[in-house]
Amino acid sequence: MPIKACVFDAYGTLFDVAAAARIAAAEPEHAKLAAIWPQLAEIWRTKQLQYTWLRAITGDYTDFWQVTQDGLDFAMAALSLEGEAEMRERLLALYWELQAYEEVPEMLAKLKEQGFITAILSNGSPDMLNGAVQSAGLEELLDDVLSVDSVGIFKPSAEVYDLVGEKLGVAPSEVLFISSNGWDAAGACGYGFQTVWVNRAGDPMDNLPAKPNFELDDLALIPDLAAR
Ligand code: LAC
Repeated sequence: MPIKACVFDAYGTLFDVAAAARIAAAEPEHAKLAAIWPQLAEIWRTKQLQYTWLRAITGDYTDFWQVTQDGLDFAMAALSLEGEAEMRERLLALYWELQAYEEVPEMLAKLKEQGFITAILSNGSPDMLNGAVQSAGLEELLDDVLSVDSVGIFKPSAEVYDLVGEKLGVAPSEVLFISSNGWDAAGACGYGFQTVWVNRAGDPMDNLPAKPNFELDDLALIPDLAAR
């Protein structure tokens, strides 16, 4: 079936999640981060995601902003940075204005010109997503921003992927779903979307039941792929 909607994961896919730690580390008052910001970013992200999966399994939903703070607190403690209250506030503030990857605005503009519906489907809370979309200047390029908050469970639950059909009025096979998270691309593929895994880091593919249909290095070729 031809693609009608291109639906993007947000964090790590459109927005660079490492940017918060990288930017804070370049600020003179955060010299302690200069050598360890990549580790901080990695542990923060890993714990943030683990907490979403664990909370999905145990039915203890809380919004992604809380999970993001909990992940950061773990990462800071792991690196002996607990008690750095100003650094914590700065890192969290930067999370609301993450940079979009450089190819994102042109790629979304091309999809709009081609007549595709464009949307985000993310674990992010509505406020966080609106903050990131606005600071990256993407409001006009996205038809919808869908948050898991309305169903109270995280990806890769099918209830989350169901939101796309419910809100955009398209069948799963008419959706091209794009994620840099291998587990999210696999979950979406198993659900029935056509999927792209954006593998910027050259990671191995996750060993999960479904494999993404396509693998790309970045987002630049999404308009060509959607039009095929
Ligand atoms: C999201 C996370 C998985 O945006 O990156 O949903």
